[in-house]
Amino acid sequence: TIPLLIDTDPGVDDALALLMAFNDTRHRVVGLTIAAGNVGLGHTVRNALKLCEVAGVDVPVFAGCPGPLLHPAPDAGYVHGENGFGDIDYGTPSRQVETEHAAQAILRLSHEHAGKLLLVALGPLTNVALALKLDPTLPQRVARFVVMGGAVTAHGNITPAAEFNVYFDPEAAHIVFEAFPQVELADWEATIAHGLLHERVLEWLAADSERARFYDRISKKTREWSADRRGDHWFAADALGMAFALEPEGVVEEETRPLEVELGHGPARGMTVVDWRRESGRPDRFRILLRYDQARFEGLIQRALAAR
Ligand code: BDR
Ligand code: CA
Repeated sequence: TIPLLIDTDPGVDDALALLMAFNDTRHRVVGLTIAAGNVGLGHTVRNALKLCEVAGVDVPVFAGCPGPLLHPAPDAGYVHGENGFGDIDYGTPSRQVETEHAAQAILRLSHEHAGKLLLVALGPLTNVALALKLDPTLPQRVARFVVMGGAVTAHGNITPAAEFNVYFDPEAAHIVFEAFPQVELADWEATIAHGLLHERVLEWLAADSERARFYDRISKKTREWSADRRGDHWFAADALGMAFALEPEGVVEEETRPLEVELGHGPARGMTVVDWRRESGRPDRFRILLRYDQARFEGLIQRALAAR
């Protein structure tokens, strides 16, 4: 099995991605490193612990940085609920967070699984950036690095130009994107191309499993929010990123290009500028997902929710 380390800020769509990972027999989740992003770190850590408890998986959870490297950013509590899990009251998780910092855990696990590790980032890239500052040799030990983030034609979701994960900590994204020889990117526009019909999601949520029941509760608010604003489809960005990570054979269309993050403080802050026409002379280091097999994607989600 392939060791899988997930940096995440749960978050409703993060939770779905995590259930997909827990359910995958070809991968073994070796840790969850937790970022601040969708909501504050206290909530994202607690949500990760609760999800592990509900899923019945024994995965260590490591708390990371409480905010972006340089500039404070607004969270996305209005989408995910103020607690990040739809504002349901699920009590106190029975699991405990580890004492090791997320950035240290990323480095240690990269040594323990050197050359084999699949690293997947589903939130702002603060923890991975800090790990790189502590030890710039990290990329040498990572077999694949998959990121949910960016908006490759600048149709953002948090500002006109930027996607949330990159916008929340653009300096971190810059550090990380400059350091890895290859980054596999599932961006917001790919997410929009892979909407999930609400009625189908409701069928999956009706599965007779603890995971589906819990997920139904935590996702209700964000699904309603999305139905109000975005119509028939619900968009689970991190779930698409996880599908790309777990089953890359489902990729139908992709492009590889250079990419840079805009760090200024104007309207393009956090924009992921893709050199589509290859004019910069920079290397083609970003494998950009354009289209994924929709049936495969939905099958992964359905089975993740139905699993017991
Ligand atoms: C990303 O932002 C967050 O709100 C989601 O969890 C996802 O990681 C989508 O832009
Ligand atoms: Ca996320």
